[in-house]
Amino acid sequence: MSIDPDLEPLLPLDEVQGNILGGFNKDHQALLALGMPDSMPMPRAKQWLASLAAEITPLRAVHEFRRMRKRALRTEGIERLDMGSTWKAIAFSHSAIGRLTPDADQFTSTSFRAGLAGSAQMLGDPTTDRVLGSPSTWIVGADRNAADVFCIIASDNPDLVTQELQRLTDSARVAGFDLIYSEIGHDLSFYDGNDLRKGHEHFGFKDGISQPGVRGRVDESTFFTDRLIEAPQDPSEPSYASLGQALVAVGTFVLGYATQNATFGSLPGLPDPLAPAPNAVAPSWARNGSFLVFRRLNQDVPAFNRFVTEQAAALALPAVPANRLAALFVGRWKSGAPLARTAAADDPKLGRCTSANNAFLYALGLITHDGFPDSQPDFNGNQCPIVAHVRKVNPRDLPTDVGGGANETLPHRILRRGIPFGPPLPDGALEDEEHRPRGLLFLSYQRSIEDGFEFLSNRWMNSSRNPQSLVGIGEGFDMLVGANSQDPTRQRSCIMPATGQGMRLPTRGLQSSDWVYPSGGGYFFAPSLSALRDVLAR
Ligand code: HEM
Repeated sequence: MSIDPDLEPLLPLDEVQGNILGGFNKDHQALLALGMPDSMPMPRAKQWLASLAAEITPLRAVHEFRRMRKRALRTEGIERLDMGSTWKAIAFSHSAIGRLTPDADQFTSTSFRAGLAGSAQMLGDPTTDRVLGSPSTWIVGADRNAADVFCIIASDNPDLVTQELQRLTDSARVAGFDLIYSEIGHDLSFYDGNDLRKGHEHFGFKDGISQPGVRGRVDESTFFTDRLIEAPQDPSEPSYASLGQALVAVGTFVLGYATQNATFGSLPGLPDPLAPAPNAVAPSWARNGSFLVFRRLNQDVPAFNRFVTEQAAALALPAVPANRLAALFVGRWKSGAPLARTAAADDPKLGRCTSANNAFLYALGLITHDGFPDSQPDFNGNQCPIVAHVRKVNPRDLPTDVGGGANETLPHRILRRGIPFGPPLPDGALEDEEHRPRGLLFLSYQRSIEDGFEFLSNRWMNSSRNPQSLVGIGEGFDMLVGANSQDPTRQRSCIMPATGQGMRLPTRGLQSSDWVYPSGGGYFFAPSLSALRDVLAR
């Protein structure tokens, strides 16, 4: 087999951190945010980082674990392998890099330099002091509590995560770091009586289904992402690893490689001529590193449930059950089954079927021969609304405001690595007497914060017109996560088909204010293991 090394570079498995391209995907993950006080001597910080460097998990460990798990699943039907290990990842703020190296100026991404709070207004967050969601209320990441060093500790065993978090926190304190924030996120099945909520987020929907297929090889002839589909004859056509999972250049997630652009594939090996120059620029040691966005997003579950219940009752003709309205906002049913393949009712079997639950396209539809209904061409959003969260953030093969189809959307793909925090409420709960915080510890890796997380948030989720608009004023906002900071009431509205049969609601009556709001976060850079050892910790 001849493989184009420009399109499919050999991935340095011992260099790239495992959480970036592989994803820890563990049920228990601790986040630890540390500050470096002005008085902290850098040699002490570096000494601590040098000892931690040996514990950071490389891509090789994650990749091999995954291979073993697949084998165990095939031969013995074992779903999960608990290796009893904890995995760790690390990342640094721009100002930390400025104290640890002379090179911080070479990172020219303005968003990275300013930090998440610097982008809050642009991201549509409330900015008035003490208003929920504004940086003044954040528990990490505002000017007064911004993190310098950010660690992730992941394990299948919650006790190990707790122990490791304690050990790391204690040693960091001894070394002179300030503890700014720490928190353990758990898969919702961790909480008593919630076994069936494994992999689901707090509104009740299965999460973590659709990820880009990362290009690249682990050895001469083995691709990193399994390839179940042959490459198209025409190199300018987008390629897919499996049905519905488009392949994306590894340079879209990790620095130092050709990035995805509209002509990637037909012009192999060329550095991306369209990449906005500021984002591509970083010191040479940044190769094999990636930008990490952390956003702590609270979810007001009763507010969401009340909204869909009340609105569903109001939409009398035809009757729309609340769970269907909620599914229309997401683009998937709670089971994970995509509306593109089953618009009228949930199909839990489809939701569970990992080879089918992501096999759909919006513009052309997709024939799958897997026993489930195929996705049909759905340009008008009759099956899956134009405003549905998953369609907003990944319009797949649809033409968008930035271009003709998949090739223009792929450069904006991100690798999501988030995990829920807080205990779940019963499914469909309309009240929360205990008022315990809950939400998503959103984490994403990308080559560029501007082209990844910020693009998806500002240009698509928070826009009433983008990425696709059939009517002049636009179809509306991403009702699940988007924000409308232009309106003082922050109300969002949308137009959506009321039934799977293509009826359109000619009303802008679906209005809401935010049920997802930020309570912290940060912008970081996750270096390669050699950069950590030889540059940041030396
Ligand atoms: C509390 C906030 C959020 C919730 C509850 C949420 C929920 C979901 C759910 C249920 C899915 C479908 C499962 C899947 O395809 O993996 C999904 C997909 C996705 N979400 Fe979110 N999300 C949130 C925030 C965000 C944010 C902030 C972004 C990016 C800026 C984002 C980007 C994506 C992407 C890229 C997909 C995959 C779409 C696809 O490829 O089809 N989400 N989200």
